[in-house]
Amino acid sequence: GAPVKADVSKLEVGQQMIVEWRGQPVWVVRRSEQNLADLGKIGEQLADPKSQVEQQPTYAQNEFRAIKAEYAVMLGICTHLGCSPTYRPEVAPEDLGPKWVGGFFCPCHGSRFDLAGRVYKSVPAPTNLVIPPHRYLSDTVIEVG
Ligand code: FES
Repeated sequence: GAPVKADVSKLEVGQQMIVEWRGQPVWVVRRSEQNLADLGKIGEQLADPKSQVEQQPTYAQNEFRAIKAEYAVMLGICTHLGCSPTYRPEVAPEDLGPKWVGGFFCPCHGSRFDLAGRVYKSVPAPTNLVIPPHRYLSDTVIEVG
């Protein structure tokens, strides 16, 4: 399939946008400074906190799994059986518990991912969410594919 563009110039901090690429949802989430700080604090709860499993572009093998830390770009498909997880940015909602710092929750079998798409331990999904190939065409235009 052809590459698709995501214009993030109007994306507010905390918002998620979805673009379709090869029939699959690609999420772009604009993360706050607080989100980025929280990502650094939850490593021991995660299965692959440093993204060492070979499933992401090398330019996303860093703490934020991103080219620019502010913008998360990932495939919105659970690595368990392919449901689409729900964006749950709120901190400590009742159903996800007091330690939740925002992320993605898969309603099918309860897998949890953080705001970098890193999978929590002890959930059905075996690996972090996939980061699709992408690049910045300008400060605010991301090309996926
Ligand atoms: Fe997401 Fe099973 S498909 S937890």
